[in-house]
Amino acid sequence: NPAKAWSGRFSEPVSDLVKRYTASVFFDKRMAAQDIRGSLAHARMLARQGIIGATDLADIERGMAQIIAEIERGEFAWNLDDEDVHLNIEKRLTALVGDAGKRLHTGRSRNDQVATDIRLWLRDAIDTILGLIREFQLAVLELAEHHADTPLPGFTHLQVAQPVTFGHHLMAYFEMTRRDAERFADCRKRVNRLPLGAAALAGTTFPIDREFVAAELGFDEVCFNSLDAVSDRDFAIEFCAASSLLMTHLSRLSEELILWMSPRVGFIDLADRFCTGSSIMPQKKNPDVPELVRGKTGRVNGSLIALLTLMKGQPLAYNKDNQEDKEPLFDTADTVIDTLRIYADMMGSRTDADGTRVFNVRVKREAMRAALRQGYATATDLADYLVKKGLPFRDAHEAVALAVRGAEKRGIDLPEFTLDELKAEMAEVPRAVPLLEADVAHVLTVEGSLAARQHIGGTAPTQVRAAIARARAALA
Ligand code: ARG
Repeated sequence: NPAKAWSGRFSEPVSDLVKRYTASVFFDKRMAAQDIRGSLAHARMLARQGIIGATDLADIERGMAQIIAEIERGEFAWNLDDEDVHLNIEKRLTALVGDAGKRLHTGRSRNDQVATDIRLWLRDAIDTILGLIREFQLAVLELAEHHADTPLPGFTHLQVAQPVTFGHHLMAYFEMTRRDAERFADCRKRVNRLPLGAAALAGTTFPIDREFVAAELGFDEVCFNSLDAVSDRDFAIEFCAASSLLMTHLSRLSEELILWMSPRVGFIDLADRFCTGSSIMPQKKNPDVPELVRGKTGRVNGSLIALLTLMKGQPLAYNKDNQEDKEPLFDTADTVIDTLRIYADMMGSRTDADGTRVFNVRVKREAMRAALRQGYATATDLADYLVKKGLPFRDAHEAVALAVRGAEKRGIDLPEFTLDELKAEMAEVPRAVPLLEADVAHVLTVEGSLAARQHIGGTAPTQVRAAIARARAALA
C-alpha cells in the first residue's frame, strides 16, 4: 500500500477493522483549520531557515489556500485510509503541489503536530467559553439587580434558615462563575505553549527556530522539553477539570431552578421556551433545560475521568493512547459552550413593546414571602437583639428557642407575638425578659433582618447593590 505515509516497511496492509479502529480522521478533522495554520507557520520557519526553498513555501501556501477553500465548501474528500486530519491534508497538499508538499513534514512529527493542533483548538475554545461566561454573568447581574431587595428564605439543610434577597442569592452564582473564569484563564496560560519542534520525541537535527513558530502562532512560549511536549495532555485535563467545576456550579443552579419551579415551592416560573410538555399529561410544563444541564454535568465529569485514566499509565513519550484525548475534550468543550449559551439566554430578559422588562426567570415574590413566614426565619435576629442588650449568646439562643416552640404550638410566626406574649414565652430564661422592648418588633421583620446584614458580602440590599456595582466594574 504505497499510498500510506508510513507504508514502506510493512509487508501486508492493515485489515479494514484495524484501519477503522486506529483512524481518527472522522473526529480530528475538526482541527483542520488549526492543522493548516500550524503547517503554514512551520513551513515559513523552514523557508526562513533555508531548510526548504522559497518556491517550496510559495507552493505550500498556494496548496493550503486551496485546501482551506475545499474544506469550507465541503468538497474536501476526507479519507479513512489516511488515518487522521494531518495525513489527509498532507496527502492532498502533495497531490496539489508535488514535492513541496512532501517537504512540509521536514523536522516535524505528527506527535508534535497533533499536540500543537489541540492547543490551538483549545485556546479558541477557552476564549469562546470566557466570552460566554461573561454573557451569563451579565444576565445574572441584571436579574440580581432587579431583585436586589426581593426577600427569599435562605436555606440550610433545605430548611428555612434566614432571609436573604433573591439578588444576593443570584450573586452567589456570579462569584462561582468568576472563579470559573479565573480557572479557564489560568488554564489558558499552560495551553498556550508550543510543542512544535519536539518532533517525534527527541527534537530534530534541522536548524529550526521554535521561537519564530511560537510567535507566528501566538503562543506565549515554547514547551521546554521535547519528551514532555509530545506526551503530556495535562493542559486538556486541566481544561476538563475547570469545565467540571463550571458545570457543577450550573448544575446546582439548575437544581434550584427545578426546585423553585415545582408547584410545591412555586418561587419562580421559567419562560416556556426552556421547558417542554409531556406526551401523556396535558397539564405538564417541565424544566427540561435545567434538568439536562444537571444531566450533562455527569457527562463532563466522565470526560475528566476518561482523560485522567488515559494518562495515568503512559510511559514517556507519545503513545497512541493519546488519540483518545480528542473526543472527550471536544465533547466537553461542545457541552460547556452550548450550556453557557443556553444559560445566558435563560437568565436573560427582553424588553416588551410597551417598555416593560420581561425576565425569563419570573419571580413570584408572594410565594417567596409566604415561605419566609413559615420557618421562623428571623429567630437569629431575635437572639442577636438580646445579645446586643447584654445577654450571653447561648442564653439568648435558649430564650429564642423557647419562643419558637411556643409559636409552633400556636401555629403563628414570631412577629405575630405581642411583646407581653414574647416575654411570657421566655420566662424560663428570666434574664432575657426585661431586655425585650417595643423595638423588637422591627428586628423580627424580614426587612429589618435583611437591612441589618450591613457589611461586605452580606445580604442587606445596599450591600447587594454594591456587589453588583463591583461585579459590573470588573466585567467592564
Ligand atoms: N492521530 C494521532 C493522534 O491523535 C496523531 C499522532 C499520531 N502519531 C503517531 N506516531 N502515530 O494522536
